[in-house]
Amino acid sequence: MATTSLLLSLLFLLSVSFSVAHNITEILSDLPEYSLFNSYLSQTKLADEINSRQTITCLVLPNAAMSSLASNHPLSVIKNALSLLVLLDYYDTSKLHDISNGTTLTTTLYQTTGDAAGNFGFVNITDLKGGKVGFGSAATGSKLDSTYTKSVKEIPYNISVLEISAPIIAPGILTAPAPSASDVNITALLEKHGCKTFASLIQSSGVLKVYQSAMAKGLTLFAPTDEAFKAAGAPDLSKLKNAEVVTILQYHALADYTPIGTLKTTKGPVGTLATNALGKYDLTVKTAGDSVTLDTGVDSSRVADTVIDNTPVCIFTVDNILLPSELFGKSPSPAPALEPVSSPSPAPGLSPTPAPVGVEAPGPSIESPPAPPTSSPESSPVEAPAAESENSTAGSGAVDLRTPALWKTVATVSAAFVTWALLS
Ligand SMILES: *[C@@H]1O[C@H](CO)[C@@H](O)[C@H](O)[C@H]1NC(C)=O
Ligand SMILES: *[C@@H]1O[C@H](CO)[C@@H](O)[C@H](O)[C@H]1NC(C)=O
Ligand SMILES: *[C@@H]1O[C@H](CO)[C@@H](O)[C@H](O)[C@H]1NC(C)=O
Ligand SMILES: *[C@@H]1O[C@H](CO)[C@@H](O)[C@H](O)[C@H]1NC(C)=O
Ligand SMILES: *[C@@H]1O[C@H](CO)[C@@H](O)[C@H](O)[C@H]1NC(C)=O
Ligand SMILES: *[C@@H]1O[C@H](CO)[C@@H](O)[C@H](O)[C@H]1NC(C)=O
Repeated sequence: MATTSLLLSLLFLLSVSFSVAHNITEILSDLPEYSLFNSYLSQTKLADEINSRQTITCLVLPNAAMSSLASNHPLSVIKNALSLLVLLDYYDTSKLHDISNGTTLTTTLYQTTGDAAGNFGFVNITDLKGGKVGFGSAATGSKLDSTYTKSVKEIPYNISVLEISAPIIAPGILTAPAPSASDVNITALLEKHGCKTFASLIQSSGVLKVYQSAMAKGLTLFAPTDEAFKAAGAPDLSKLKNAEVVTILQYHALADYTPIGTLKTTKGPVGTLATNALGKYDLTVKTAGDSVTLDTGVDSSRVADTVIDNTPVCIFTVDNILLPSELFGKSPSPAPALEPVSSPSPAPGLSPTPAPVGVEAPGPSIESPPAPPTSSPESSPVEAPAAESENSTAGSGAVDLRTPALWKTVATVSAAFVTWALLS
């Protein structure tokens, strides 16, 4: 009880502290002259990225200027062009006219995508003669072809929304080819980013084809690293039925485009490709500052790196294998690892790794936050069911399983809370 209420109050505090301070969609919703711009901020999910950041300036285009940008280019190009209009600093009217030496370079959201060559992700702001303020790409030789027209909204020092006359064009930004689904070689990308085991599993199980057919509409992939498969307590997938491996792999993907900013503003559980009429197979996203954690109800994992973010495909690495509670959390149905008969078709391509050493003394899983002093129950492994050698405790298994899971949640939440409290 005490645990539950502690958990609830921590969750409450977290939800309050991390609620978004501003909502760009809402700010622009009353202003029909920016309706096209606003619509593209939502379509590209840049709105979530803007809302998840503090101290930001959004340069907006009136409908006519936005329309000529939008009508001639694919969504991926529009997204890059708009992300160059999101300045990672607060500039309101008075600050624009008070730039030291009259000119400055400021970093933008485009710079954070990794797509910007050199200083192409920076914008030059220059106080021009006669009180005008010009904007241009920081790339040498660029003109200042956009000018400040008016202030739309200023919430110091959280968000400033300023209207400008025209898009800011960095070299090559408009001519970049739209990535087509066939250009994205999922397995090659995964292999390059330390996810060889996952890459080989999705090929041998055929789940790669499921991902590929989802890609045209939108796909977000959470790929466990090779270390995640070797971690103490990680389930031995070669002991699972092929159908279960398929389900687990599908559980690592969402059927829509969910870049990091969107994850950060996601509330409530999200369905995965494994979601079906027989099971929810959902994930809960938890955000603490810049850190995003996925919680399955059985375990949780940090979202580590972005492998690609190409509308509408996003691939992240995660530190742990995500274990759906439908397969790993519920008693009396035994944990799949207990399946006595050897799987008719064990997932090929999965080298039969020896059982992880030291299962009984769980090393800290990579993502585990330092346990707070009160959480001694943390010491029993969440993954214990996989290591259980007999089924005699099936009845009480629910308790054995859920208690550490709960404590782990408390530990994660309280560590996040402490982090938040320290950072505030
Ligand atoms: C700015 O953001 C902070 C942190 O989210 C919030 O506490 C504050 O109220 C915001 N300021 C305004 C004027 O909305
Ligand atoms: C922002 O505002 C829009 C429109 O009012 C709303 O649909 C959306 O849910 C809001 N987003 C958040 C994160 O609250
Ligand atoms: C302003 O310009 C002078 C001379 O070019 C330079 O030394 C100084 O660092 C500049 N100040 C800033 C804040 O950029
Ligand atoms: C910004 O652009 C103008 C015009 O091209 C140039 O004179 C100025 O030096 C640039 N400012 C910076 C900080 O690079
Ligand atoms: C994708 O990359 C893999 C190497 O990881 C390669 O074997 C395969 O042929 C590539 N597929 C395509 C369609 O290029
Ligand atoms: C484990 O226990 C459950 C529930 O009592 C039972 O249905 C299942 O067949 C048992 N599995 C094994 C491998 O004994």
